[in-house]
Amino acid sequence: MTDRELVDQAIKMLDYSYVPYSKFPVGAALECADGSVFTGCNVENAAYGDTICAERTAVVKAVSEGHRDDFVRIAIAGHSADYCWPCGSCRQVLFEFAPDLEVLIAKEGGDFVKLSLRELLAHGFGPKALL
Ligand code: THU
Repeated sequence: MTDRELVDQAIKMLDYSYVPYSKFPVGAALECADGSVFTGCNVENAAYGDTICAERTAVVKAVSEGHRDDFVRIAIAGHSADYCWPCGSCRQVLFEFAPDLEVLIAKEGGDFVKLSLRELLAHGFGPKALL
């Protein structure tokens, strides 16, 4: 799958975002080594802190279906004028499973940039410190 195709899958997920409070939809598409893709959107809650981000929705879907050590790329999309940068919590959760992940970050219109998770979370704290 091309980067463009993965970003387009993340963009499609914007339609499913549940964002009555922020009105800021985010979509994600997480690709594994076998080619499977786990998508996600943000799901907000009246108790604001219980909101789950799009990236973490995708990670939880993947892990709960047996994928853990094989994340290759994630695409993240928003309707934002700037690139839809992942929040610190999502960077940390991604780092737990895939510190060498490639991250595609899109903005309104579909243009995207590609960075490594290590660039986005320099000197990250991960399981190696504890295991
Ligand atoms: N959001 C994400 O889904 N991913 C991020 O990495 C940044 C923030 C969501 C959470 C909330 O629903 C909305 O964007 C505004 O913060």
